Amino acid sequence: MDVLVGKEVDREYPGYSPGLEGIMAGTTAICYLNDDTGELLYRGYSVSDLVNASYEEVAYLLIYGRLPNSKEFADFSSTLVKSRKLPDDVSPIIQQLPTNAHPMDVLRTGVSLLGLSDSTLQDSSKDAKMTRAIQLVAQMPVLLTEFNNHAHGLRSVKPDGSLGHAENFLYMLLGRKPDPKLAKIFNVSMVLYAEHELNASTFSARVTASTLTDIYSAVTSAIGTLKGPLHGGANEGVAKMLMDIDDPSKAEAWVSAALARKERIMGFGHRIHRKTEDPRSVTIKKYAKDLGEYIGETKWYDICFALEKKMSGEKNLYPNLDLYSAVIYMLMGIPIELYTPIFVCSRIAGWCAHIIEQQENNRLIRPRSIYTGARSLKYIPMEKRK
Ligand code: CMC
Repeated sequence: MDVLVGKEVDREYPGYSPGLEGIMAGTTAICYLNDDTGELLYRGYSVSDLVNASYEEVAYLLIYGRLPNSKEFADFSSTLVKSRKLPDDVSPIIQQLPTNAHPMDVLRTGVSLLGLSDSTLQDSSKDAKMTRAIQLVAQMPVLLTEFNNHAHGLRSVKPDGSLGHAENFLYMLLGRKPDPKLAKIFNVSMVLYAEHELNASTFSARVTASTLTDIYSAVTSAIGTLKGPLHGGANEGVAKMLMDIDDPSKAEAWVSAALARKERIMGFGHRIHRKTEDPRSVTIKKYAKDLGEYIGETKWYDICFALEKKMSGEKNLYPNLDLYSAVIYMLMGIPIELYTPIFVCSRIAGWCAHIIEQQENNRLIRPRSIYTGARSLKYIPMEKRK
């Protein structure tokens, strides 16, 4: 057979799974997902419990593999605070980036710059990798907020060492000390975004790490992967959709028209959470409702609720984490283009844990591809080609 197409591929390669659906492509002790029950564990602990912990405690758990005691937690928190400053040779470059750049592209570039300025890069010991992981957790929010202030001509907001990780991040995003309720809910969203098994960006990070390259290269791959609208870019897409709909009574007709155009509705569907609702969505939805009532703006929640009803009836699809996360960020007044970067600043702990785990027990990730192109073509010199 010369060229394989469609069903011929399936016949010739019965084990082939487009999009690697259902394929076990590695082992991990970091995250457990049960697609039947919706159970979600980080390092053995239920995420429904971990939303009550601080982001830095969860980051410690993901990176070190266990919960810290109070002394370890205090030391870790203090290291994060001390690491919040960007290297002297990185900040001036961030200040020169085009102000119309998307912040996701800035984070991808920023991580490359952090790699360039790391003079210890030749040290591939586990300790050195852990140190870099902690610095990345601390510095990603600073990279983002420094660029955002530069892009919008805002005054620079220095990190506040008295604030915890999530609260300080929100403070730097908003330029003012956040209401404690907002800070708590922002922390919950960061915990929920912190890790999710072998999702596309983590897989990219692990593929890159499996060549034994450095952590910055692997994180750069992950950021580029997360940016797409089918993955992390969906939370930005949700906000644009909600603003376009703008009125709960218009949600149903809006979805019908979009589905008729064969469009994907952002914030719905998931490769793993198909039989049950995404457990992260169940949690963030409660906080979105609560925050809407607290602030006195329930429109965005009500639109999502109408979308949910329609999508479940029409397509049998549940919301994923991105739907109601977008609502809470809208209610907090965060600019839309920062939503996917907030996902980066949260998932960085999970990515780093996976990169370190991959290299601790490494085998190069190099699958095969089924060839569907032509064979036996005869080369004709250019001057004789028509
Ligand atoms: N809107 C409309 N139809 C959808 C959607 C959606 N959001 N999601 C899935 N479908 C349909 C799809 O058209 C297909 O229908 P049919 O069989 O009639 O062609 C069917 O459901 C199966 O879809 P699929 O593309 O085979 O499913 P997948 O596992 O490859 O894709 C997904 C998963 C997340 C990419 C997809 O559900 C999607 O595009 N969702 C919208 C984007 C989104 O919200 N992404 C965030 C994912 S969760 C956060 C994260 O980890 O990034």
